[in-house]
This record gives sequence, structure tokens and C-alpha cells, in this order.
Amino acid sequence: MLPRKRKRIGKFVVWLLVAVMVFGFTGCSQGDDGDVKTPTQGVQPTKPGDSKAQGDDVGQEAGITQGANQDADTTPEPTEPEKEVRTDFYISAIDEEIPSMYEYWKDYFSIGIAITRGELLNDFKGELIIQQFNSMTCGNEMKPDALLDREATKSAGTETCPVLKFDSCDEMLQFCMDNNIKMRGHTLVWHSQTPDWFFMEGYSNKQDAVFASREVMLLRMENYIRLVMEYVNTTYPGVVYAWDVVNEAIAPGDGGEDGMRMSDSFWYQTIGSDFVEKAFEYARKYADPEQKLFYNDFNTYESAKRIAILKLVNKIKEQGNIDGIGMQSHIGMSSPTLLDYEETIRKFGETGLEIQITELDINLDTNTEEDFIKEGTRYKRLFFTFKNLVDTGAANITNVTVWGLTDEGSWLNKDGKRYPLLFNQVLETKPAFWGVLMDDGIPLY
Ligand code: G3I
Repeated sequence: MLPRKRKRIGKFVVWLLVAVMVFGFTGCSQGDDGDVKTPTQGVQPTKPGDSKAQGDDVGQEAGITQGANQDADTTPEPTEPEKEVRTDFYISAIDEEIPSMYEYWKDYFSIGIAITRGELLNDFKGELIIQQFNSMTCGNEMKPDALLDREATKSAGTETCPVLKFDSCDEMLQFCMDNNIKMRGHTLVWHSQTPDWFFMEGYSNKQDAVFASREVMLLRMENYIRLVMEYVNTTYPGVVYAWDVVNEAIAPGDGGEDGMRMSDSFWYQTIGSDFVEKAFEYARKYADPEQKLFYNDFNTYESAKRIAILKLVNKIKEQGNIDGIGMQSHIGMSSPTLLDYEETIRKFGETGLEIQITELDINLDTNTEEDFIKEGTRYKRLFFTFKNLVDTGAANITNVTVWGLTDEGSWLNKDGKRYPLLFNQVLETKPAFWGVLMDDGIPLY
């Protein structure tokens, strides 16, 4: 059993009162269960094409109802209920009721979390994840180095079909199934975190091992993709909704054809430049029809990289084998500029493919209060941008995933001095969390 939260009164009750005042005027309901799920002082997302800006409605409707049958001299001026602007951002996600990010953004895109098995099985973190996210990515547990079983593969005695094990990710898939969270399958074909022996004749891990032939590697690739998909889709039907079929294949300047990564990619070196197309061909063949197939990469806003990615995905799109582009989005506090970042989403959006922000974090390396607020602003502006792009139909953004739950657990935090995420190590919300929720307490500029 996950622990139950203690619901404290106090500041939250003040919010609740403000919420009752605001929604009392309009007769808006809070939702079926009556729970307050969004910050009362936040800008509420509206569906594309929906012109009802909440703040305006409140003012207008209050004015009409109060002014109708009353003497002009005695009629009090309609007053807006005073909005409380949040100043205390550090709320314990364990002890207090906090709004749910996925509920807040549910009319736009799913909100995802990348997490490791160890973190997920922590009761407090597990409960927080259920409350905040409706999409999950395994941080490492579904990568080839986690699934490939060398001993069993060698024992099976076939050069073309590896043997896999799924103990690394079973509990994570089960957690998603039990809690109605969808999973992004990350990742099938990647130059990194795929053991060298997988590319060698006889699955050798010796220094003098030689590459397997293109034909053998194509069969290994096809069988690997088939086995992962068959297992996941039969054991946990309906859980995985998107696959990162190929990860990080573009690296302009690395010597590969059309800007492809070559120097450290054994996929490129064994199969050749069409390995990405082949991977998508096999993925389409074995994926469930409703599962979406993604090409995923980092620094997608660098112009040469963006151009090469567009060329690649357009080719695969013509073949009918890709549904989306994943923009990892490991970004800094000032780089890339939001203009460059937005421009990339627009360009990718023009392909008609889905866009997912698959690995968002902001590499803040200072921890002053001022910088935490600035980080909140950057998150808020990013989500404002995503909203605007969806509202205007410029890009079909279907998921935004943050790459980790707490600063402490971030892959960036090797030196213990990085603060890239939405929760701190004691599971308090940071200004960044309230930025994602478009809270008025976080400046937009
Ligand atoms: O498995 C060993 C374990 O046996 C050992 O005890 C431990 C000691 O540090 O290391 C473990 O391996 C680490 C592994 O994460 C699992 O924790 C590796 O050293 C470490 O390099 C690896 O880092 C992962 C990184 O990918 C490697 O490529 C990060 O956790 C993971 O968040 C990161 O994720 C990638 C995405 O998949 C693709 N995009 C970039 C993103 C960030 O690098």
C-alpha cells in the first residue's frame, strides 16, 4: 500500500476560499469529484479554438448579474475577487495537496516523467508520479544493454536472433498498467547503451572481435525489435503508446552520409546509412497499429542538425513508417534561445508529424532563490510556447516529458550542484513546478 497523504489545512484553505469566490460567480464546476486540481491564480489552459478566457468571463458575468435590477446610485462597482499571488513555492508534495500537472494540461498533451526503477519503487515517489504524470519513460531499463542477455544469446546458438530478458523493466511496465499511465518505449536502436558484443561475429566480447555482416546485423535488428515489441505488447497490452525507434542517429560533421553519426555508431558501421530506415520498417511491421513510432534526438534546434533530421524523417515519412519527432530538450538557462527552439518546433510541425518533448530539463548550476525563480520563468515560457503552438495549429505536440523527478536524481547531477527539475530532493515543489502550471507567482518575463 502506498502511504496516504496527510492533508494539511492552512495556506491551501486560503487558496480554496479564493477558488470558491472565483468560481462561485461563474457557476463553473471544478470537475466531477470537486477536487481543486489547478492553482486558482494560474492562467487556465483553454482548448484550441476555445475563446473563453477564464479571467474575462469572471468579470463580465459578474457585471451582468449584479447590474441588472439595481439602482445606478446604489449599485456597488463590480469588483474582481482579489487574487493571491503565490510567493511560497516550496510545498511538500508528500504532506500537502498540490495541483496535478497532467490534469492541468490534459486538453493539450500528456505530461511524462523519466524515472529509474529504484526511484519508482519508492512509495512516496510512486504516489507523486501517479498524481502528477500520465506518461512514463524508463530512464535506462528498456535500453538494449538492459534487455540483451549475452549468456542466453550465446547458448541459443544462432547468429541472427538474440535472447532478451525483461526483469529490468517488468515492474515499471506493471506499475504503468496498474495505474493507467502510458509508457514511451525508450529506446530500440541506439549507438549508446548497446553492448559492443551485439555487433560482433559470434557475439564475441574479445578485443579482436570482428563485426558481423550487414545481413546478419539486419536480422539481429529485426529480431531485437520484434522480440521487444512482442513481449511488451502481449504482457502489458496497451501500455506502450510510443516507441523511440531510433535515438540520436544524426551528428553533422561526424562523417556519415547526410549528416549521420558515424564514428561511434556501430549500427552505421555495420549496416550502413540506411539502418534508420530499416529500423522504422521493422518497427512498423511489429508495432501495434495504435503505437506511434518516433525518431528522437538532442540539440534538435542546431540548424545543421535540424536540417539533417528533417531530411531523414521526411524520407521515412514517405515510406509511411514514422509518426513523430522526439525533441529531447536538455537545455540551458539561456541557450538555446526560445526563438530558436520554437522555430525548430514549427519546422518539425510543418512535416505533419507529431512532436513530443521527450527529455526536458534545464541545466541550472546555481541555487540562489533568484535563479530558481528564473528557472521557473523559463519553464513557464516553454509551456506558454507549447500551448501557443498547439492553439495555433503550428505543431501537434502530444507529450511533454521531464527527464527525472528530483534535482538529486537527475542524470546531470554528477557533481551534486545541478538543479534542473521540478522537485527538490525532499520532494518539495520548486518554482519550476509552478512555472509548468503557469502560476501567476512566476513571472513570464
Ligand atoms: O549500470 C551501472 C551500475 O551497475 C553501476 O552501479 C552504476 C554506478 O554509477 O552505473 C550504472 O550505469 C549507469 C547507468 O546510467 C544506470 O544508472 C551509467 O554509468 C550511466 O552512464 C547511465 O547514465 C544514463 C545515460 O543515459 C547513459 O547514456 C542516464 O542514467 C540516463 O538518464 C541517460 O539518458 C539519456 C537518454 O537515454 C537519451 N538522451 C540523453 C539522456 C541523458 O544522457
